Amino acid sequence: MNAPTTRPDTAMIDTDDIGYNTTDNPSFSSIIDKRLSRRHLLRGGVASAGVAMLGSLSLAACGGSDDADATPEPTPTPTPTGPKLSFNPVAHSLADAVVVPAGYTANVLLRLGDPIAPGVPAYKNDGTDDPATYDRRAGDHHDGMSWFGIDGNGKWTPQSADRGLLVQNHESLTPEFLHPNGRTMVGNKRMDPGEVLREFYLHGVSIVDTVKDANGQWGIKLDSRFNRRIHTLTPMALSGPVKGTPYVVTKHDPNGVKVRGTVNNCANGTTPWGTYLACEENWRGYFWRLAAEDNANRSDKEVTAFNRDGVNTSLSNSFYGFWATTQGAADAEQQDSFDRWNAHVMGATAADDYRNGPNTYGWVVEIDPFNPDSTPKKRTALGRFAHEGAALGPVVPGKPLVWYQGDDARNDYFYKFVSARNWDPADANGGMAAGDKYLDEGTLYVAKFNDDGSGEWVALTFGQNGITPAYEKYPFADQADVLIHARLAADAVGATKMDRPEWASINPRTGDVYLTLTNNNKSNRGFDKTDAANPRYYNDAGNPNGHIVRLTDGGAPDATRFQWDVYLFGARVDGTQSENLSGLTDDNDFSSPDGLYFDQRNGDAGGLLWIQTDDGAYTDVTNCMMLAALPGQVGDGERLTTRDGQATIMGAKPTEANVRRFLVGPFDCEITGVVVTPDGKTLFFNVQHPGEDKADFATNTFTSYWPGNQAPASDAAHHGHKRPRSATVVVTRKDGGTIGI
Ligand code: FEO
Ligand code: CA
Ligand code: CA
Ligand code: CA
Repeated sequence: MNAPTTRPDTAMIDTDDIGYNTTDNPSFSSIIDKRLSRRHLLRGGVASAGVAMLGSLSLAACGGSDDADATPEPTPTPTPTGPKLSFNPVAHSLADAVVVPAGYTANVLLRLGDPIAPGVPAYKNDGTDDPATYDRRAGDHHDGMSWFGIDGNGKWTPQSADRGLLVQNHESLTPEFLHPNGRTMVGNKRMDPGEVLREFYLHGVSIVDTVKDANGQWGIKLDSRFNRRIHTLTPMALSGPVKGTPYVVTKHDPNGVKVRGTVNNCANGTTPWGTYLACEENWRGYFWRLAAEDNANRSDKEVTAFNRDGVNTSLSNSFYGFWATTQGAADAEQQDSFDRWNAHVMGATAADDYRNGPNTYGWVVEIDPFNPDSTPKKRTALGRFAHEGAALGPVVPGKPLVWYQGDDARNDYFYKFVSARNWDPADANGGMAAGDKYLDEGTLYVAKFNDDGSGEWVALTFGQNGITPAYEKYPFADQADVLIHARLAADAVGATKMDRPEWASINPRTGDVYLTLTNNNKSNRGFDKTDAANPRYYNDAGNPNGHIVRLTDGGAPDATRFQWDVYLFGARVDGTQSENLSGLTDDNDFSSPDGLYFDQRNGDAGGLLWIQTDDGAYTDVTNCMMLAALPGQVGDGERLTTRDGQATIMGAKPTEANVRRFLVGPFDCEITGVVVTPDGKTLFFNVQHPGEDKADFATNTFTSYWPGNQAPASDAAHHGHKRPRSATVVVTRKDGGTIGI
């Protein structure tokens, strides 16, 4: 069979722009509950002129309602007990800069391409750096991030605040900034294998030993034995129920136990035994498969599965064209590393091609940052979909462990994985062997949000809940089939279609599980497609500003019932998009929440929530941002009806005392990845893809020049660099105090 020869469009890529749930699965819509009368319940946003005091520069910190249908009686907004937000809110900003509150300092720590090993030359940032060095440089598109404190002997010490392994995902890349003039292509071919090698290395995960010196300045310990890059060529193992099954047989491994590398690692997670979870999100777009040419060689089930996941390459949705590198490879192994993204049936059997390549991606990857020689494992028991993150729930000795997981696609679902084994604290230093114990056996559940505020976790277990060979749309064969096709199993049980589930995080004070729903468009969340948990529709735009739901499992990780409400609705205070149901003001309005993280620092800080945005609906007024919040708990608000007549349940309305904008990023970036050291004195966050929207190398014109534009002249290695770069930023307080509260 000949390989198809068309090529992808190589325009700038938004790998987050996705949605493939074409089922008519009910969205548990209370369509019948809808009233035809349009009622303006809330007129949010009499803008309180929130005056953000501008910080002095180091990196350059520049920087109403009628109630209706309220049943039961509204509860007053609870006054948060314990911590209080202690900074002045930062104003909207369109500056090409990181803006932090007065009294705070922001310094760039780790940029795209920065060396993480001795002997690697400084990054020239003009596209000419040697591709072979990129496996020892920071990756691109910094995303989810965790902190693992270590002591002077290099041992995991969770309470260490001055030295730790900063482990982060590099979700994707902006190829236009990586090579001298974007990608070198002739016709449908990528002409330079070195460029592709750069792109392989720039994906994945970085582990860097991060140290605070006697002057309070943070830096990378370049000669640390822990520094490591995990990327698209790193050997990995498949683990759990899918390991060794026919679904994952490839030319690379006819036994179906080995995989090369990971891509599109978006949000993240941790384990109680000190390992890191990197989650594969938009893997489908890396594969090339023209349905018109390949479907004839596929079973009906395979075609159904490809349609559900979107593995049907049109000319515009194969992200990087790795598969199209057909000349100049150093050797047969390198050529195979390119060819494997071609998912067409090509050879006689599955061991002769990469027809099953897509089944080896879409997993949660466990990495042991303390063992640089360890092989990462794809933990298949957690299911395969467009993973956003895997947020660890409450850890209770003698009870199962639980991880909450979003599937970021329009109208896709919210999942949790519950371990079969009960947690034994003796496993706290168990490394990958503990992962084998807790992550390879368990139950995957999907959420159904009922309109009355209750909910159900439905097990995705072969033979139960209609997930059987008799399921008409997709006759399931076994549990490996269920896990690989978790979305189809969730369709079968009638899971609730959500407005793009992104990060989850668990409030350490209450155990409530928070989930960002970043946005949805009009075709997936139209006027008659809302439900109580996804209640907003705005004229022709669906739910452009997103919201945050939360639920309680009542302290039982394996609960099958929950209660939920909506914590916050994103909105513009100018009222031009979604209805401002949360009554946001100039000081705390936001759009498209994405990153979400409950601060884990000691003591009173429990319950401090960081909210980050990855937005395209408010960027005419402000760049993406991060807010700090002190939420109450599920059930502290009221029932209400949107102006379009959708009943919903909202938490206590926020005030400027308990939700405030903490920082704003540079142009055309998203703010993502956040972690705070255990002493609360250092916050790390990521700026992803600044200036991604335009690149003109002839004139060196970009939409952002960050971070080179904020590097002082004394920083000769970075000062004045034109090409923008994703980067990790360190935030501290000038008086040495704690961040945010
Ligand atoms: Fe990678 Fe869903 O953001
Ligand atoms: Ca995200
Ligand atoms: Ca997003
Ligand atoms: Ca994102």
